[in-house]
Amino acid sequence: MDKEFQFDSDGLHQAVELMSRDFSSATALSLDSELPQVGMGSRAALNLLAPSILGGAARLGEATSFAHMDPPTPWITWAMTLWNASLNQNLLHPATAPVARRIEEQVVAWLAPFFGMNGGHMTPGSSVANLTALWAARECAGITEVIASAGAHLSMAKAAHLLGLKYQSVPIDAKGSMDAARLPPDLSKSALVLTAGATSTGAIDPLHLAGRAAWTHVDAAWAGPLRLSKYANSLAGIEAADSVAVSAHKWLFQPKESALALFKDSAKAHAAVSFGGAYLATPNVGVLGSHGAVATALLATLLAWGREGIAERIEHCMGLARSMRDFVAADERLELYAEPQTGVVVWRPKDEGLFDRVLQQLPVGSTSTTSISGVRWFRNVAANPNADISLLIASIEGVLPARAC
Ligand SMILES: Cc1ncc(COP(=O)(O)O)c(C=O)c1O
Repeated sequence: MDKEFQFDSDGLHQAVELMSRDFSSATALSLDSELPQVGMGSRAALNLLAPSILGGAARLGEATSFAHMDPPTPWITWAMTLWNASLNQNLLHPATAPVARRIEEQVVAWLAPFFGMNGGHMTPGSSVANLTALWAARECAGITEVIASAGAHLSMAKAAHLLGLKYQSVPIDAKGSMDAARLPPDLSKSALVLTAGATSTGAIDPLHLAGRAAWTHVDAAWAGPLRLSKYANSLAGIEAADSVAVSAHKWLFQPKESALALFKDSAKAHAAVSFGGAYLATPNVGVLGSHGAVATALLATLLAWGREGIAERIEHCMGLARSMRDFVAADERLELYAEPQTGVVVWRPKDEGLFDRVLQQLPVGSTSTTSISGVRWFRNVAANPNADISLLIASIEGVLPARAC
């Protein structure tokens, strides 16, 4: 028996112990340009890699981390990821994933009803979920074009391109939401994409439009999990969609790559995007072939925290965004892009000349930048329940010129 494929308690303890060390001053990894002829051994490889992989990574759970839609992950998901890697189940085939397939079905069955959907499957991200949904739209509803707002994620135009569909972009209003008045009147051959939580602004498109087109897809990659919280009503109307994409690796605090493609009529949608190779016991549904058991980490998190535990953390994040919004709104030297709808706060100094100075002073990982209609803005995203925004506020205060008396 090859020992490298056996349980090595000491080796795994070493890997976990390395996680607890401080490698923050470690230098970048330097490797030979040639593939090694002889291996150094697993323990030595761990020791070599730990300083750069662990020390060089962005710390998404740090108190200053408040910039992107990428959350820290709870430790139970680290444990599940370890189990998954050791078991290497392949959900393509029931024989290679007898339990893992059931787990994915269970997770989907628990979450789909929050969106008014009756089923679906997991994908490695919402780009793939969006592509899958528009593929189903083309097959089930015969759509020939995709209509989305100018604030929609780039994966929409990409999916339309891949599927050979026309792509039309609808202007956004002053809040960053689709301007419904600018929609073309005839949507009988269209997939209407409504975004719930636009990437740049967090804006929610008018979801009451769901059902007006041949197919409505809601891209709820970011804000979808609000449905599990006291903010569920901010996504009212989503239940009339034909399909919904939700990223679990955003506001469900999952390791990448974890997302859901959900459908109102999942049997019909799945049948439309299935292929049955002769060697498969069941048809292959969706874009992926082989894929792993990411649902186990999500199942473990849902069991460990329950809906309330998820809601509590999202609501805490929404509170952090609210505090940031209040700070910006109360300071006459700053300007808010619009009222934050989903934990994304977009702001800038009124004096454009200060933009770069503020940018240089902000703590690393605290703030991202975006450009809306050619104007530069700062953007904070409340994905990290551990964020301490007083640190961010103090650094902004430190660089702004003194207030006029
Ligand atoms: C609104 C929206 N849709 C889709 C995506 C793509 O998701 P993923 O990166 O999981 O493919 C993102 C990513 O940020 C997003 O913000």
